[in-house]
Amino acid sequence: MGPRILVTGALGQIGTELVEALRFKHGDDVIIATDLRESTNCRILDVMDSEAIDSLVQTEGIGEIYHLAALLSATGEKNPELCWKINVEGLDNVITVAKKYDCRLFAPSSIAVFGPDCPDMAPQVTPLNPSTVYGKTKVVGEQLAMTSGVDMRGLRYPGLISYKAPAGGGTTDYAVEIFHAALEHGHYTCFVREDTRLPMMYMDDAIRATLEIMEIPREKLGEARGGYNIAGFSFTAGELVQSIRRHLPDFTCDFVPDVRQNYADSWPNDIDDDVARKEWGWAPEFDLDATVDAMFSGLKTQPTV
Ligand code: NAD
Ligand code: SER
Repeated sequence: MGPRILVTGALGQIGTELVEALRFKHGDDVIIATDLRESTNCRILDVMDSEAIDSLVQTEGIGEIYHLAALLSATGEKNPELCWKINVEGLDNVITVAKKYDCRLFAPSSIAVFGPDCPDMAPQVTPLNPSTVYGKTKVVGEQLAMTSGVDMRGLRYPGLISYKAPAGGGTTDYAVEIFHAALEHGHYTCFVREDTRLPMMYMDDAIRATLEIMEIPREKLGEARGGYNIAGFSFTAGELVQSIRRHLPDFTCDFVPDVRQNYADSWPNDIDDDVARKEWGWAPEFDLDATVDAMFSGLKTQPTV
């Protein structure tokens, strides 16, 4: 067997599906899934424990790391110090080990790197002045990708929509929760305004983008390597409700904004992903209606959340 692949934060919204895709691509034995929590086929690894990361990478012959352990925006803003610790110090621990054992590293960035001064359509290159601590941790992650000496890559994921695992405490969670509430109660109380428009993506596209960027030879990737803009589609919360009503005509939704509205308002409406399209051929496959259709079809056959 060649080098193994380590996934941190593997039980989260992305990890649940990325591990499945990596196991399908490389074989079950190649993938070492880890998280804070223990679960079937998933070992305990706290990314704050640098000795444990070092030991696991050495003993398992790890050659590639997908580092997904993090606190998301809503959870992070409730406890900014912990958010900084896990997102920056945790990443630094992983980078140190990746450098020592010459591992390639994927570490996601986010649309949260943009702040209120960003144009509505976020360019790849623009001043990054996020108003959230979470966003600041992602800016640091992108900088480390370019300065650490590790072959490290990242994507600025939009809000991700999926049904196999719950959303993990982000501002964009309403675009996942709404499906469960619609099916269970026929009603949802949304924590952002009806006119809130944010960039989003169906999980299948995000997983494909992740696998694709790790396949590209390093020399083909340019200055955006630490955090490529990738766009799926953008919609307002009201437009999401309308699309859901194609499946559930009696579905109702009211809008009661909370503090997460502020984070949403500080992020751009749309993402310009020209650089990713040109440098490594990125193209999304799912639009809003296709995503809503896939969510209903998935939830009806696999109501796991
Ligand atoms: P998630 O919250 O669903 O999962 C994160 C996982 O990390 C959880 O299973 C948690 O138990 C684990 N974790 C937390 N602290 C840990 C620690 N100290 N050691 C080990 N594991 C720990 O998050 P996600 O949505 O899967 O996000 C993964 C990555 O993608 C994060 O970096 C996030 O910022 C980024 N991202 C996600 C989205 C999205 O919409 N889901 C969008 C942009 C960026
Ligand atoms: N979806 C994520 C969040 O809302 C963005 O990184 O936190």
